[in-house]
Amino acid sequence: MYADKFMEKVIAWRRDIHAHPELSQHEERTASLVADVLEGLGLEVTRNVGGFGVAGLLRGKSEGRTVGLRADMDALPLTEATGLPFASQNPGVMHACGHDSHTAMLLGTACVLAEMRNSLTGNVKFIFQPAEELNPTGGAPGMIRDGVLENPHVDALFALHVWPGYPTGKIVTRAGSLMAASDRVFLTVKGRSAHGSRPDQGIDAIVAAAHVITGLQSIISRSVSPLDSAVLTIGTIHGGNRYNVIPECVELEGTVRTLNPDVQERMPELITRTAKGIAEGLGASCEVKYVKGYPPLVNDAGVVACASEAVRKRLGDDALILADTPDLTAEDFAFFARERPAMMAWLGCRPENVKAEDMAMLHNTRFCPDEECFKYGIEYLAGCAIDFLNS
Ligand code: NI
Repeated sequence: MYADKFMEKVIAWRRDIHAHPELSQHEERTASLVADVLEGLGLEVTRNVGGFGVAGLLRGKSEGRTVGLRADMDALPLTEATGLPFASQNPGVMHACGHDSHTAMLLGTACVLAEMRNSLTGNVKFIFQPAEELNPTGGAPGMIRDGVLENPHVDALFALHVWPGYPTGKIVTRAGSLMAASDRVFLTVKGRSAHGSRPDQGIDAIVAAAHVITGLQSIISRSVSPLDSAVLTIGTIHGGNRYNVIPECVELEGTVRTLNPDVQERMPELITRTAKGIAEGLGASCEVKYVKGYPPLVNDAGVVACASEAVRKRLGDDALILADTPDLTAEDFAFFARERPAMMAWLGCRPENVKAEDMAMLHNTRFCPDEECFKYGIEYLAGCAIDFLNS
């Protein structure tokens, strides 16, 4: 496999980055490590693209198209509980979403392709993005604004995400929606305070909020087509200070997940109308703030076909899984996929000897992907780049 001779380095990079995790928009050390490696390989490197983003351009022997390969570099505000010898040395910060692995695999892919530069037609742009975890802003829009998809013009993009739900080495994807849009909604229900024994003298914000929450669930069942998927989860509710006082105000916060951009577009109006209407019907009021986050991640069918072929011919038919359904988690890569034909694949990272129910999931403080999966990830990234440039 392409990665065989670089695996030692890839694992060392991953462990180094894992031990020194950095939060979104603080990826200074990681970015500097990445840029130094890419410069060492003779790539044209641009630092500080949209924050701590790094772009490395590998020019092949002759002119042609440009393919973009993307990884993310940031960690999460969690305290690591893996007990690994290379566990986080940065208290309260952890690579619990595998972005350390993504970065190391893309560096390994750069090693592979840099060695093959004399047989490549066209260019490969290696994109290391900051702030993937920073919903709703994200790190991709800043890199796009700073021109990472131009000079030369990037024609298509590939990315991967380690996925603990699948066994090591499986490449899982699908054409069309793969991951969801993720928006945030803030609601403030206002009534009028009164003694708990005299509700008629006030307007109960808690009762109004309860009706608003129940009413909001009808949006999904009655205003969104049954053939479209959407989720509205109210995750926090705060109101009241004392058991026998009717409070004036209740604050709610939730997340909205959608797969169809048209459904996402309609959600702010549907939520605002429903929440205000219900609250006002009870004499209260409701203010709604809707913050749009990452768009749905839509994989381009043509790019998926190219990648499927690239994976099958290198790793065998069994390595590729075309998922029946998308997942309602979200990914900042969606911003790139909105600009260019692109695809994301999930890379299985559950070791053979670990049962599915024992594997810690993403964003878990015990999350620990199988390093064996790296060579498959590199095979996918390098294979897709080569085949896309040759197609
Ligand atoms: Ni992630």
